[in-house]
Amino acid sequence: MCPDAGAPGPAELRARAARAVDAVRRRGLALDEVLGTGTPPLVRELAFGTCRRYFSLRGAVDARLSHPLRDRDQDVYALLLVGLYQLRHLRVPDHAAVSETVAATRVLGKPWARGLVNGVLRRAAEAPASTSSEEERWDHPAWLLDATRAAWPDRCPELFETNNGRAPMALRVNRAKHGVPAYRALLDAAGFAHRPGVAPASLVLETPVPAARLPGYDAGSVAVQDEAAQVAATLLPQTPGARVLDACAAPGGKAFGLLEAAPSLAVTALDASEDRLTRLRSEADRLGHRLADVLAGDATDTAWWDGTPYDAVLVDAPCSGTGTLRRHPDIKVSRTPDHVRNAADRQRAMLANLWGVLSSGGTLLYCTCSVLPEENDAVMEDFLAVTPDAASVPLDAPWGRSTDHGRILLPSPGGPDGFYFARVAKAPGA
Ligand SMILES: C[S@@+](CC[C@H](N)C(=O)[O-])C[C@H]1O[C@@H](n2cnc3c(N)ncnc32)[C@H](O)[C@@H]1O
Repeated sequence: MCPDAGAPGPAELRARAARAVDAVRRRGLALDEVLGTGTPPLVRELAFGTCRRYFSLRGAVDARLSHPLRDRDQDVYALLLVGLYQLRHLRVPDHAAVSETVAATRVLGKPWARGLVNGVLRRAAEAPASTSSEEERWDHPAWLLDATRAAWPDRCPELFETNNGRAPMALRVNRAKHGVPAYRALLDAAGFAHRPGVAPASLVLETPVPAARLPGYDAGSVAVQDEAAQVAATLLPQTPGARVLDACAAPGGKAFGLLEAAPSLAVTALDASEDRLTRLRSEADRLGHRLADVLAGDATDTAWWDGTPYDAVLVDAPCSGTGTLRRHPDIKVSRTPDHVRNAADRQRAMLANLWGVLSSGGTLLYCTCSVLPEENDAVMEDFLAVTPDAASVPLDAPWGRSTDHGRILLPSPGGPDGFYFARVAKAPGA
């Protein structure tokens, strides 16, 4: 069979992965942003895997470089990481991994680096992997190891191991189209083994598959969404006809889950990102959902608000994403304690502002996919301290564990992502 003349060759794939890892390291970009849809699977595997194992790979590469590479050659450094990832973690034969990675130096326009890449990878391939620091041992940055241990001492080091594993693929059955048992029967008939997740419409596949192969995917029977994220819809009041604001809505998973549980709700989707709202609109079309309104705007001000209070507000706040490291291992590479502090400041600003658009007697649900108390209980603590008409509403649930002001699910192997929820009610007549 003739190879596809237009398909990128093995060296090109390695160079692409190296550029993506370089963009995470030096520009703080997320891999999902850098690698659009349609990226070849090997590039994704190399880039995500290198970020997942970044700290141990970095240690091994640094130990074999006689001096640091110049700023303008950091793409070569990223290529070394990608090359070593193949040697240590993929079943690519060593000689192929080394020769294709060496050939990628030409694709990067750095043919002078052939000898360097060849030498470092060969020396690394010959030596057994060893670790000399906690960062290398657990493949997490030191600040995150410290913060996670301080928050969840009884769950470390399992949390680190879980974070370095693969995320399961969870589905949300679109109950506007199918009952959950009926969709399970479709999965059974298609041969996709599954189990129920923590939320009522969640199913977790034993083996991930491309979404388009799921029964009824094009017809909107199902969506891909982590089981923990699906819990949000169960914690909001579902009074028929109620006006609900989803203040950080895109790409829409929680808003759609809510509509599937309670189709008569009038859900307004607000988000600061036009691009993400475009994805939300097309997902609404696929699933067959109608939102009351879709607004581009900033949840820290009210320029977008028509002045009519909402009966419920969902604040699925932008956060560090530390509960989702299996899906977004680049977070370990690009984020710093400053990101967490800035996220917490923005979360406080959102809550303070959105409290003003909630009706008296209304409910606000705050959630993050962070496992760090700085973005969770500490934010709620500050909010409750300065908001006299807010009262915490306990979340009694069979999942997760309770915290001072809410409830948290921590990531577990084969199980949900990390997610924090806190619910507050506004005093009637306030
Ligand atoms: C955790 S994601 C939301 C996920 C979404 N709720 C879902 O379930 O599909 C956070 C969202 O907040 C949005 N965002 C960030 N800053 C914002 C702001 N100041 N105002 C409104 N939305 C904002 C981001 O664009 C992003 O879409």
